Amino acid sequence: MTDRYVVAIDQGTTSTRCIVFDRRGQLVSLAQQEHKQYFPRPGWVEHDAMEIWRNVERLAPRVLSRAGIGLDQVAAVGIANQRETTVIWDRRTGAPVGRAIIWQDTRTDGLVHALTDAPGSSDISEISGLPLATYFSGPRLRWMLDHTPGLRKRADRGEVLCGTMETWLIWNLTGRTQHVTDVTNASRTMLLDVRSLDWSPRALDFFGIPRAMLPAVRPSIGGFGTASEGFPGVRIGAALGDQQAALFGQTCFTPGEAKCTYGTGSFLLLNTGPDLIRSENGLLSTVAYQIAGAPAVYALEGSIAITGSLVQWFRDQLELISSAPEIETLARTVADNGGCYIVPAFSGLYAPYWRSEARGVIVGLTSYITKGHLARAVLEATAWQTREVVDAMNANSGLTLTTLKVDGGMTADNLLMQMIADVLDVPLVRPLAVETVSLGAAYAAGLAVGYWPDLDGLRRNWHIAGQWMPAMDPAVRDLEYKNWRRAVERTFDWIQ
Ligand code: G3P
Repeated sequence: MTDRYVVAIDQGTTSTRCIVFDRRGQLVSLAQQEHKQYFPRPGWVEHDAMEIWRNVERLAPRVLSRAGIGLDQVAAVGIANQRETTVIWDRRTGAPVGRAIIWQDTRTDGLVHALTDAPGSSDISEISGLPLATYFSGPRLRWMLDHTPGLRKRADRGEVLCGTMETWLIWNLTGRTQHVTDVTNASRTMLLDVRSLDWSPRALDFFGIPRAMLPAVRPSIGGFGTASEGFPGVRIGAALGDQQAALFGQTCFTPGEAKCTYGTGSFLLLNTGPDLIRSENGLLSTVAYQIAGAPAVYALEGSIAITGSLVQWFRDQLELISSAPEIETLARTVADNGGCYIVPAFSGLYAPYWRSEARGVIVGLTSYITKGHLARAVLEATAWQTREVVDAMNANSGLTLTTLKVDGGMTADNLLMQMIADVLDVPLVRPLAVETVSLGAAYAAGLAVGYWPDLDGLRRNWHIAGQWMPAMDPAVRDLEYKNWRRAVERTFDWIQ
């Protein structure tokens, strides 16, 4: 019998990847393409949705030929995607109306402030499980409708459609026949009633979004049609937001299990089971996944906007290193941060603060400070931001995190991993399969078509590859944490 495989499409913030996995969850082949980042004004970040779709079309045959397999050997395709990034397109021609506005974009700051003061705003947070913030798609859609001439009329007439990136890709993969989203991506819009898992008429009314432009909401694991483009003839078995896909790929199927993915930003998700836990302490109540025919599984999330992007900034804007891994070598040239702290509030601060007006600061500069100290402060910023999110998570869930599963590009940095274990005072574990986002999408798609029988089978594929034990003097930890929080306070003073 010919072997069969599952393909994941991971449509991320900086690149799109297609990966072929085998039945043991092992990576067989990978093809990747970066796409252009547009920064037309300070705080604005955009993508060309058509460029991203063209990349998928190019990557599909490439990844199959690298694996040496044909389309008939692909059991299913699963999609994981950057969340909250929003695109509007013409229903008839399929052409995007302007560029996609991405999740880090803060142009809706003024709108969000106005909406926060509008009657009923706290009800919308209650319905959606999210605080009103520039991060989410709802305000972004409203902004597009308000600022693109004639667009609202076209939306009312049903001439344009909108979606996040999985919706855009499924629309194109299915030859423009399926306009659908999944519950995890929909739960990031502020438009979904996170309990009933359907669009909330009150939220649509609050943001002024015509329902006609929204996709149908489906369970994450089930069916999104059969591809006619890219992977023609293959079933699209699953779609999940990338952070939820990583939770799935880390096999965090039991309430109380958590993972943190360290990428451009970092996202800590805790599985809270079938009961939605109301978010407090600046966390988000979000959908972790839903298997068709079963109740949804929920998560609490702590979202950090800037972690890996701070290393990129250190490399590309300050030019103090020439490649991201060099930050570890540079940071190891000094024993500590020399009293210097960097708080990267480049897109405001997300969890647990949700202060879009905050701006980044470097504090504690003296002539003693070298680029080594700055490198250390860059890495420590990721560690302390994780600590703040974990503190909020423990307070909100009533559970105490005893171990944290980690993944993502930054986990290759051993110094950073040790710093995080130290400041959390809990062990970190990294799995052998580091491509957890893609793996989660593949697992979900494979489950949908019976390629993998159940969750237990997936769990058996998880193997530990690295572990870091906390080793920091508690008195030093407490003092450093206090200093970090004082530095964070400074970001709020800098209101423009
Ligand atoms: O919520 C934003 C998140 O989904 C982005 O993830 O890995 O594409 O930067 P990433």
